[in-house]
Amino acid sequence: MSIFDGQFKISVSTASGIEAVTKRELMKLGYPEVPAINGRLVLDGDMRDVAVLNLNLRTANRVRIVLAEFKAETFDELFDGIYSIDFKDILTADAKITVTAKSFKSKLFALSCIQSIAKKAIVKKMLDSLKSAALPETGTEYRIEIAVLNDAVTVGLDTSGDGLHKRGYRNKVWIAPMRETMAAAIILNSYFKADRAFIDPFCGSGTFPIEAALIATNTPSGTLRNFAFEDFKNAPTVLPKVKEEFESRIIRNAELRISGFDIDSRAIKLANEHAVRAGVKEYIHFETQDMRKIKSRFAHGIMVANPPYGERLSGGNELIQLYRDFGKMFASLNEWSCYVVTTVMNFEKYFGRKADKTRKLYNSELECRLYSFLGAPPKRKDENSSPKS
Ligand SMILES: C[S@@+](CC[C@H](N)C(=O)[O-])C[C@H]1O[C@@H](n2cnc3c(N)ncnc32)[C@H](O)[C@@H]1O
Repeated sequence: MSIFDGQFKISVSTASGIEAVTKRELMKLGYPEVPAINGRLVLDGDMRDVAVLNLNLRTANRVRIVLAEFKAETFDELFDGIYSIDFKDILTADAKITVTAKSFKSKLFALSCIQSIAKKAIVKKMLDSLKSAALPETGTEYRIEIAVLNDAVTVGLDTSGDGLHKRGYRNKVWIAPMRETMAAAIILNSYFKADRAFIDPFCGSGTFPIEAALIATNTPSGTLRNFAFEDFKNAPTVLPKVKEEFESRIIRNAELRISGFDIDSRAIKLANEHAVRAGVKEYIHFETQDMRKIKSRFAHGIMVANPPYGERLSGGNELIQLYRDFGKMFASLNEWSCYVVTTVMNFEKYFGRKADKTRKLYNSELECRLYSFLGAPPKRKDENSSPKS
């Protein structure tokens, strides 16, 4: 019987600033409310839960199985704590063992030392258990994270593989793309609902409209990709059944009003390709168009935008003029709500309106602000009007 056959703690990591959204996602999936500590949400579960979380969490970075928790103020204590884990039941004899480390407010803070001591302890435990002299490390990769917080060590086994932002639909890179997990968090935290008009005026490779369509159709975010836990040799096969269960809940033939515009036709070509891969092309209207020309016949809707910004694209007066024109275009849209992610701290000045809410976010380690400009709630009549922006 291995750890994979029973219950264990599961640690879900999420980006700073979006913990509350991930928490709500967990609760929507039927898990109890758990506190977020340092970007981690920890809950109890088994391998089925590992599959459910990896497949469905749109805003989480990774899902890990907690192998051990102990206190360590010295490298000896770290070694002993890790050596006490029964790795033989977790890893295969040929496992490729990758160790990563994190430390915060702790006596053990040299990450490369934490990594190398941890690796030594794992290798020694495997060699002693297998009564072997060497580990070939030619097989499946197992990524083990040593996280030290206030001298408390958590040893986590990564079950995700690639970060969960890698959905599998964005195979080509466009300039300054939005992280899929962050895009999903912004949409989930907005007034967006399946029956509301949605526009991304600077859609680039299509991330926001595609994530909106995946959310509106209840399509699991991990449908197209593989996960590390599928290759765990000592673990039961759980994913096919979980996939079947959640994919049966996908809403087919939905009536959505999602649009994406970009001034560059190459971006629109890419956005269309990505939407096809994601299986949501039929729901999104992509068009090459300057955002200054955007109009909508809907009085209410959601605009989500990641306009070009200084650090990642060429800056200057042109950018300021673009933001001013963006503000004018948005002002013509009656009661719409607009959510803008940018690194520009005085964006509101150019946009011409004070945000109703501002929050700090990180898009691929870049500090950004999310400015929310909120419209009035839609009236029933408008909500039922026919689709297409
Ligand atoms: C930061 S990128 C958006 C990236 C996108 N969120 C993604 O995930 O790929 C900004 C986009 O704005 C587009 N853009 C610049 N000026 C524009 C304009 N006047 N109207 C519409 N799009 C414009 C650029 O072509 C670029 O694709």
